[in-house]
Amino acid sequence: MEKSVDAVRAVLPEIADISDPQLRAKVENIWLQVWKESEWDNLADVPKNVGKDNGIKLLVHVRSVIRISMAMADSIAHFHGVKVDQDRLLAATILHDVDKVLLYAPNGSKSPMYKALPHTLYTAHKMLEHGLDHELVNMVITHSENHCTKAPMSVEAMILKHGDHGESEAVRMAVDVLGKVNA
Ligand SMILES: [Fe+2]
Ligand SMILES: [Fe+2]
Repeated sequence: MEKSVDAVRAVLPEIADISDPQLRAKVENIWLQVWKESEWDNLADVPKNVGKDNGIKLLVHVRSVIRISMAMADSIAHFHGVKVDQDRLLAATILHDVDKVLLYAPNGSKSPMYKALPHTLYTAHKMLEHGLDHELVNMVITHSENHCTKAPMSVEAMILKHGDHGESEAVRMAVDVLGKVNA
């Protein structure tokens, strides 16, 4: 498969919902660069995890978290009047697990990067390289408590952290504990 921006847009159509063209370009370019640096031919094959999560695919998880995060933002805006920057929440959510493309290899193993770097570190590096600001990076790195000593510093970071965690735990309950098969 040709590794192109169009191919990234095809598997992550939510990128088109980022209204700021500069932010949108950075998000899709980070996905494209990480894909090109990887051994993966098809992004749809990348797993969410190796050794757990029953073969759930990364893109399925990411797209599910995007929907949950945007719904949470919409709800707290509606019921609490809390303003959420949709573009920035969307950008951080789309990027939050992109390093997994490099943490897991197509042969089913964990990569040398996985052994050396904590989850989110390489994503933070790519975000800074593309000129994204520290608060946006904070949204991404704080979603993973196991790998970050910093706390969320924005409403958007808090939504992403709990949207990601809630999605993962609900699906684990359904699949691992109750034995429901992925539809
Ligand atoms: Fe993660
Ligand atoms: Fe995630």
